[in-house]
Amino acid sequence: MQEQNELNPLSSIDVWEEDVLERYPDPATVAKDKSKEEFRNYEDPKRATVREFYRLNHTYQTYDFVLGKEKQFLSFDKKQMPVWEAFQFLNQLVDDSDPDTDLDQFQHLLQTSEAIRRDGHPDWMVLTGLMHDMGKVLCLFGEPQWAVVGDTFPVGCAFSDKIVYSEFFANNPDIHDERYNTKYGVYTPNCGLKNVHMSWGHDEYVYQMMKNSLPEPALYMLRYHSFYPQHREKAYNHLLDEHDHEMFKWVDLFNPYDLYSKNPVPPNWNELRPYYEALVEKYLPGTLRF
Ligand SMILES: [Fe+2]
Ligand SMILES: [Fe+2]
Repeated sequence: MQEQNELNPLSSIDVWEEDVLERYPDPATVAKDKSKEEFRNYEDPKRATVREFYRLNHTYQTYDFVLGKEKQFLSFDKKQMPVWEAFQFLNQLVDDSDPDTDLDQFQHLLQTSEAIRRDGHPDWMVLTGLMHDMGKVLCLFGEPQWAVVGDTFPVGCAFSDKIVYSEFFANNPDIHDERYNTKYGVYTPNCGLKNVHMSWGHDEYVYQMMKNSLPEPALYMLRYHSFYPQHREKAYNHLLDEHDHEMFKWVDLFNPYDLYSKNPVPPNWNELRPYYEALVEKYLPGTLRF
């Protein structure tokens, strides 16, 4: 049985995204906003929690752990909710340390989708923005933070040293297992990501939830939106096939909307509601299965 603080080292899962944003700041704002340069404060007590978060993530995300979670959650027999009820459910996730200043989960989703809509992208991409973090409900099923959020990476083969805090993989038992500790491990060169198991979290879960409802580029956006070791560092080109490279153009298109659309002013939901109700009805089943 794990200690309680091993389950949830962060005051909220949003702290992980704040850290990603510090690592990969918005190129559009970084030049004009000098204060951003001093933003990365290593004395920040939050930094210690992020470090601990990655220590746990990198220690426990093994090949067997991932296969176990896939078995546990991809049967979708836990719960059924209409889409709008699912957003309310997701919104129970709040930042204990910071309940007033942070936007809730739904606001982040709506800001992402609205930014995509403003730029004139297809409606299925707008819906992808709205749904992309629905998988975070895993936290509400009692899953530890490090098995819900965090940069994702392939398991079953060598961990790249381009992954943030890669030194913590020294604690992962897979590095001593010769089935998993070579460059390709259980995979073959350029076998395609469809054959690759990613570390378990909200990306894979929401992809599996949506896979019969949205077009393929949307599914790539959902499934790989936290795969920073690939989209920022190109650390796993040796596993991608040509089709993945084609589809990653969509992942790259989506990513800035996820990272850089946060705005302290919440969108006017009452005005937007009819559009989104019609959009959800166009693509999604009445009830989502969890
Ligand atoms: Fe996400
Ligand atoms: Fe997000």
